[in-house]
Order: sequence, then C-alpha cells, then structure tokens
Amino acid sequence: MAKFQTQLVHGPVDTNDPYGAVVLPIYPATTYAYPALGTAPQYDYGRSGNPTRHAVEAQLAALEGGQAAFAFASGMAAIHAALAIFQAGDHLVVGKQIYGGTFRLLKEFFARWDLTITAVDTRDLAAVAAAIQPNTKAIYFEPVTNPLLQVTPVAPLARLAHQHGLLTIVDNTFLSPYLAQPLRWGADIVIHSATKYLAGHSEVSAGVVTVKDPALAQRLYQIQNALGAVLAPAEAHELARGLKTLAIRLDRQLANVTRLQNFLQAQPAVQKIYYPTKAELGREYRAGGGVLSFELVPGVDAVAVVNRLHLFTRAVSLGAVESLVELPSQMSHAELTPAEQAAAGISPGLIRLAVGIEAASDLIADLQQALASQTIRCQEEA
Ligand SMILES: Cc1ncc(COP(=O)(O)O)c(C=O)c1O
Repeated sequence: MAKFQTQLVHGPVDTNDPYGAVVLPIYPATTYAYPALGTAPQYDYGRSGNPTRHAVEAQLAALEGGQAAFAFASGMAAIHAALAIFQAGDHLVVGKQIYGGTFRLLKEFFARWDLTITAVDTRDLAAVAAAIQPNTKAIYFEPVTNPLLQVTPVAPLARLAHQHGLLTIVDNTFLSPYLAQPLRWGADIVIHSATKYLAGHSEVSAGVVTVKDPALAQRLYQIQNALGAVLAPAEAHELARGLKTLAIRLDRQLANVTRLQNFLQAQPAVQKIYYPTKAELGREYRAGGGVLSFELVPGVDAVAVVNRLHLFTRAVSLGAVESLVELPSQMSHAELTPAEQAAAGISPGLIRLAVGIEAASDLIADLQQALASQTIRCQEEA
C-alpha cells in the first residue's frame, strides 16, 4: 500500500470522470436520473449520496484505517450523528476535558433524550473503570485535550471498553490521522472536526466520522441520511484539496512548535509550557500536534501580551496554515465560571497558540516583542 503522504496526494479519484481530471470534480447535482424504472442508479439524491463527497469519504476512511467514513457540514454535525447511535437510557463515560461544544451537546441536547454522562479524567484508567454503569454504552474522549494538552492513549481504554462490551469513541481532531490512528489501537469510532488540520486553511467547515465495523457503518449511513447535515459538494472538494498538504503542513507546524517551545522555555516571563512529552505520547501518537499553551508568571499581563502580537491572529480554532493566539479564559472557555475555569486548570495567564507554517524566526520575534513589552513594564512598576 502507498505511504500515507502518497495517499494524501493521490487519494480522491473519480474513476468515472470522462476527461481524466487530475483533481476531484465537483458534482453539484442534488438529484440524479434513473436510467429506467426498475434499475436503481448509483446516486439518486444529493443528501443520500454525492460523488464528490463519496470520493473524499473513501479517502478519509483509508487514511484513518477504517471501513467507511461519513462527511458532515461541521465537526459538531459529525459528533451529533455519531452520538445519535445511542438510545434513551444509555450512559456514556466521557473525558472531563472534551471540547466544550461536545459537552454542551451532551448536557443540553442529548440529556433531553435521557442520554446521561459521567465526566472523568480519562488518563486515570481506574477512574474510567469506576464510572462504568450497567447502562454504559461507550467511552468518549480526546487523545490530546484543549487547552492543556493532556494525553490519553487509546489501547488501555479500548481494552477496558471491550471487556465491558462498550464502544470506544475518539475525537482525533487535535492530532489528525497523520499523527494518530485510533482505530488501529482498538477504537471503534473516530471523529474529526475537519475544519481544523484536515482542511487546514480556515475556510472550510467540515466534520468526519470513521468506523471499522460494517454494521456500525450501515447505522451511521442511515443517521447521516436521516439527519441530513451532509458536507456540500464544493466543501468536499475543498476538503480534498486541503488533505493533499496535511503531512507537509503538519511537519512544518511541528518544527515550528519545537522552535517556539525552545524559545519560550528560556523566557523568564513564562512560568509553564503545556505540550505533550515523547513519553506521554508513547507508541500511539507520533507527535503532539500544532497547539502549544503556556502560562505567564504572575504579574505579567496576559491580555496585554496577546494584544501586542501582530503575526499571531487573535482567534479561536487551530490546525490551519496561519498562526493563531487565544486566551482560553476570555475566548474558547469564557462560558465557564471562574471557579469552573480554575477547576479545569485554566488560569487567566494561560495563553494558547495554534502554530501555523510561517517562518519560525518571525513567530519568535513576534512573541519576543510582545513578552518584552510587558516584562519591562513589570520591572518598571516593581
Ligand atoms: C476537538 C474538537 N472537536 C470538535 C469540534 C467542533 O468542530 P466544528 O467547529 O467543525 O463544528 C472542535 C472545534 O473547535 C474541536 O476543537
């Protein structure tokens, strides 16, 4: 089988294209002709199936080592569909630090359908085991969490899940299939916000659910068709284009993260850096991704530092070519009360970087001038 990087570039092919187009054609049609009554066409209706979407879904399934993949209009639409396999009365054990939107979906939406959850620190296998109830149906977690980059390996949780007849569901958004392939380590369902690394350019909203069991694939297809939040053909084409450079973008992002980490470690204004170590990543994860968080020493004004940055755009999201900066306490996690933020380890001085593919020296220079302005001010005031 071709290497991952080659699969990225040569992935979505439309074998029916009569012109030999080297990129994935966009089929905007929402309805398709029956050759004659009594003969079912390959596609009949856009929501139920679309050649552009199918090509990128097939590529995503192969990249993740799955049997089938389903593409949606956003990561949240993908998560909604994946969680729709459960029934009233079911219970899930979920990671304490899962994406806030997922938490909201579970607490404010699925709770009304009597799907209950217990949130635990999934790094603690005993805590996960203790949270399993007779009606538990799945363990749901993120291998690397936002914004503190806490690492949970798949294999031990998948083993525990299978002992209890549960599914293992992994939101792999923070690593992408280039750095982590949870299905190969025992997960049953892998989800992505493809809005991030997979599309990679802050211009496509998309989500993916990949599975390896044919029966689960059939169930998810029915749900995708029933809920209808499918990825549109033009966006499927853009996602396919973004995927071609996934490995090359991430290689550069990882190199930049290393340079920034080395720089930040030497800064007196920086108290702590959050980024997974090689030991934490273990055998399952090739690297920790392009997100890096750090905490400033008390007295250095994090808001002022963030406001002084020029190259890092003040914005949520991650995984794209441009570097972004955000203050979790005031942006991505602003919904939490100060007490909830403190319990989640999110201090007012915590800054999160989503590192892009710019020249590392320019990113460092930008951070240097922003930190220097506040460090000097701090010294003057003292
Ligand atoms: C880990 C994770 N999962 C899911 C989502 C939701 O994806 P989307 O914004 O594409 O709906 C996000 C968005 O930030 C995320 O970070």
